[in-house]
Amino acid sequence: MKLSIQLGNLVLENPIIIASGVFSPDSASYFPIEAIGAIITKTVTPRPREGNPPPRLLETAAGLINSIGLQNVGIERFIEEELPRYMELGVPIIVSISGETEADFPLMAERLRGKGIAGIELNLSCPNVQRGGMHFGRDAETVFRIVREVKDASSLWVMPKLTPQARDIVETALAGEEGGADAISLVNTFLAMAIDIRARSSRLGTLMGGLSGPAIKPIALRMVYEVARAVRIPVVGCGGIMNAEDALEFLIAGASAVEIGTACLINPSIPAEILDGIRKFMEEEGIDDIRELIGSLKIKPLDI
Ligand code: FUM
Repeated sequence: MKLSIQLGNLVLENPIIIASGVFSPDSASYFPIEAIGAIITKTVTPRPREGNPPPRLLETAAGLINSIGLQNVGIERFIEEELPRYMELGVPIIVSISGETEADFPLMAERLRGKGIAGIELNLSCPNVQRGGMHFGRDAETVFRIVREVKDASSLWVMPKLTPQARDIVETALAGEEGGADAISLVNTFLAMAIDIRARSSRLGTLMGGLSGPAIKPIALRMVYEVARAVRIPVVGCGGIMNAEDALEFLIAGASAVEIGTACLINPSIPAEILDGIRKFMEEEGIDDIRELIGSLKIKPLDI
């Protein structure tokens, strides 16, 4: 059975990618590394960031709101201390980067050249920062410019991660493709709130955060479908994937691979369980090559 997939010139042994923010080298022993196609690092920025005030995580009826605020040690310490530990894992490592200005992105890409990484995910979609993040990803022109500048600055494989807060997700994806992206990932979290009714204040340390988990899956799936139909580059689907059936839905909608995020926080073994479930489904359906599934959605004549 063939499970390997291709994202431009990046070949992965299987389509299961660990989303940014749920994995660190310190938590590696909890994860079934052999079942993982690629790992995306926690987003790194040019300078260290302390992140947002607590509380930063809040469970909702069908998901999780986070307001981490891109806490990280900054690119220099990341390269020196954390990246070598990621590289020891023997899994393709995609480094997630973000910045406060457009110019930060090509500078960071240059710093990551020659380090043996599989590529870069551009976090143009974090809802938890005042500058950069989703403010860049809301605007197609900005997405185009950042992708183009990063591609000009390095020969690395590049994948922008889009925000569902974009004015038009298809237009934004097309802008990324035109900028030279090797793949597109979508979607990051949905801007969300939760209120303490007694205190009349936000239940998070910030007013808003980003919602992930099962609540967002049907909307993320629709966006992945729309984008996969519009672009020619591979799409990586993300948003509330909790089990093999969810992952299969994204593949059938047109995603070439899937990112698993929130589900890993509940059960770090989930990547292996999802991969097993995909295998079992392929056996049952008599499918030898996972690529037969990608974009295999049948459209009824009256579908809009
Ligand atoms: O650290 C963060 O707040 C990251 C959020 C995101 O990119 O979704």
